[in-house]
Amino acid sequence: MSLFRLDASIRVEGSHSRELADVVEQEWRSANPGADVVRRHVGTEPIPSTAWGAAASTRFIPADQHSPEQREAVALAAELTDELIHADALLFAVPLYNFGVSQHFKTWVDLVITDPRMAAGTDPVLKGKPAVLVVVRGGAYGAGTPREGWDHSTAWIRRIFEDVWALDLKIVEVEFTLADVNPAMAEFRDLARQLRAEAEQVAREHGRSLGGQQAA
Ligand SMILES: Cc1cc2nc3c(=O)[nH]c(=O)nc-3n(C[C@H](O)[C@H](O)[C@H](O)COP(=O)(O)O)c2cc1C
Repeated sequence: MSLFRLDASIRVEGSHSRELADVVEQEWRSANPGADVVRRHVGTEPIPSTAWGAAASTRFIPADQHSPEQREAVALAAELTDELIHADALLFAVPLYNFGVSQHFKTWVDLVITDPRMAAGTDPVLKGKPAVLVVVRGGAYGAGTPREGWDHSTAWIRRIFEDVWALDLKIVEVEFTLADVNPAMAEFRDLARQLRAEAEQVAREHGRSLGGQQAA
């Protein structure tokens, strides 16, 4: 058994998404002691932003006519895709930045999708593979809140993971992660602590589930 884990937070210390993913990983490890974990820290060790353009531009060009940059980008896309295919379970930890998808995470997704095995419309090579997505947001976006509808990240990630790649996806979500550090959000600190505790419980449950499942 092996786990692929991707972290998109731009920080290491105090990262809520990493801590919740740690909970998921720990539960997975309990069920799979000694098993391999392959990691990508795309927030702190980004995929080069030029790789996607170089790989995408090869679409109708025979491989023997690729430039060195294109060859490198295609090889990286294949390497990233292999990491997904070879893992038995997948874990992603992705914060909300600027009301949208983390640029580092999207660069990774876009590059992976250039691999012919991963493109939209192909028979999903990851179909049914168990996956957990940890999503963290500094503010709150629930129904009736002033920022309802402003999270333009989570629905896009779900579209890719569930509809394009056909993963068997479970989600851990937590909001108000900025309450502890933002004085303007001080009144929400108790609620933030409660939401975090609830998210940890969900992370434990999904981690156990991830650990017990075999890839389809
Ligand atoms: C540059 C930047 C932009 C952010 N933009 C948003 C945002 O649009 N909405 C939001 O709810 N939180 C936003 N946040 C807060 C993060 O989502 C929050 O701090 C989260 O916990 C970060 O993940 P981490 O704790 O794993 O590092 C932003 C944080 C940073 C650093």
